[in-house]
Amino acid sequence: MARIPDAFIDDLLARTDIVEVVGSRVPLKRQGKEFSARCPFHDERSPSFTVSPVKQFYHCFGCGAHGTAISFVMQYDRLEFFDAVEELAKHVGMEVPKETTQRSADPQLQALYTMVESATTFFRQQLKTNAKAREYFDRRGVSEAIREQFQLGYAPDGFEALKNALGTDAARLGLLERAGLFSKNDSGRVYDKFRDRVMFPIHDRRGRPIAFGGRVIEKDASPKYLNSPETRLFHKGRELYGLWQVRGANSKIERLIVVEGYMDVIALFQHGVTQAVATLGTATTSDHAELLFRNAPDVYFCFDGDRAGRGAAWKAVESVLPRMKDGRQAFFLFLPEGEDPDTIVRNEGRDGFEARLQSATPLSQFLFDTLAHDVNLSTLEGKGRLAERAKPMLAQIPDGAFADLMRQRLTELTGVGARAASPDTHVPAQRAHTASRHAPPPKRSLVRGAILTLLHKPSLALEISASPTFASLRQPGVPLLVELIGLVHARPDIGAAALVEHFVGRDEHDPLQKLAVQTLPGDESELRRVLLDAVDQLERQTAQQRVAELQARVAEAGTMSVLSDSEKAELRANATPRA
Ligand code: UTP
Ligand code: MN
Repeated sequence: MARIPDAFIDDLLARTDIVEVVGSRVPLKRQGKEFSARCPFHDERSPSFTVSPVKQFYHCFGCGAHGTAISFVMQYDRLEFFDAVEELAKHVGMEVPKETTQRSADPQLQALYTMVESATTFFRQQLKTNAKAREYFDRRGVSEAIREQFQLGYAPDGFEALKNALGTDAARLGLLERAGLFSKNDSGRVYDKFRDRVMFPIHDRRGRPIAFGGRVIEKDASPKYLNSPETRLFHKGRELYGLWQVRGANSKIERLIVVEGYMDVIALFQHGVTQAVATLGTATTSDHAELLFRNAPDVYFCFDGDRAGRGAAWKAVESVLPRMKDGRQAFFLFLPEGEDPDTIVRNEGRDGFEARLQSATPLSQFLFDTLAHDVNLSTLEGKGRLAERAKPMLAQIPDGAFADLMRQRLTELTGVGARAASPDTHVPAQRAHTASRHAPPPKRSLVRGAILTLLHKPSLALEISASPTFASLRQPGVPLLVELIGLVHARPDIGAAALVEHFVGRDEHDPLQKLAVQTLPGDESELRRVLLDAVDQLERQTAQQRVAELQARVAEAGTMSVLSDSEKAELRANATPRA
């Protein structure tokens, strides 16, 4: 096997900074002249892994792992020596000598890559000659260019098309089997795994096809998608479909959009959204998270809005938290039922999809939303529970501003570690009241009471109209109350924490926060009564305000004729009983 010249390795190590290499994969803390971390190669609570910038070496006192930047990348990224060297060389702009590139790899492995490549070529040729498969892609609007870019293909019907075409001798049959392209029946006979399916090759980070997804053409056939099994080349938890194409289409990848399906990636590409990748029928793994953030600072996860989608999103949260170094951001986009990025981008176009991305939920909000959704933040028990749930999660975030902000948010939500808010201050309406001294105290406390109730039991808002008549009442706090009611109608499952989170960055956030952490006496039926009473009175005040307005106009004009017929009727109806 060819060797890479020692001089090249020396040069590479001289130009590489191990602190940067390790630090881009594992959160490091400076300790005097060295850096320390919890060892990525064994489980441990306290850090015994150190990296020395002077020596350009890492060493773990716990498990004994040690070495250079190259061995670190080999072990951490699970790369062969040659690939690790190439990876590091790329970062410092060096090129591995050509003659070593070709001959260095394990010949068996090389043969396997070549076989998967041949299969890709075979499937592509079959697509060209199979009308049914071509029509399938036509029907789904997949352009010629995209078919080329993604090397789409077709695996013919029958049991031996691929086998006969490529398995010309025992060695090749063995390779096809090891590449995961065969199935085996009970009597040990092998046959094509993918039959009568359109084929999506999965490429590795160097653009080599390593596996396939195959989709049925007939509507009801099952399984809808068949994927290559794990092979020497393919570990689905470590690969992202489309990443190779994303790299080709973007000189700098500003963001990655994680979707669920092959066709989602393809449809997005075709509509000009060229930063989409798909996990391969699995939950987001920590390897995925690492790979995503090593390629882009912002990652958007798209999921179905249903329960399964939320569950999958939570898995993604768990995998990204330990990787949320400062400067990285994760967002969550939930799609309406029955839609996926494919249907959205086809129906709403690129702009429509981009608009949805713009309004995606940030990780911070999704995390607290989810943790607090069944928690009553008006009780000490509820706050305690939220704190208990959140702390171990927040502890996984690498040190930095984001970690600090998340802890601060938890303190705000639970009051843990914060001074208790005194019950009669921090009223949103009260600040406005100081500005206009005319607002009579009872009205102020009505609005405040309603807001307070909603913050403790948001779902009560569903008992009020989404656009209540008192919306026109000119009183401090009313617009906020109406907005809160609207929010709950739009998101009926919203929890208190999420409701408050919605106002982040606005003046209302702080006072709402403080209201939310206050305790409220009374059970749900009492809260409901308080709220509905308040609404009743606000509606009455709205009617009074209206009457006063109409009367003022009449007084100013000196005649009833300034009013329209309906206004006159309104005045008559409202003025009498309550005036
Ligand atoms: P979906 O069932 O949501 O399909 O599977 P889709 O992506 O919308 O596919 P189209 O639009 O009907 O063609 C999402 C992903 O889950 C995996 C595949 O990776 C698929 O792209 N999957 C799905 C499987 O692995 N097997 C299946 O039988 C179905
Ligand atoms: Mn789909």
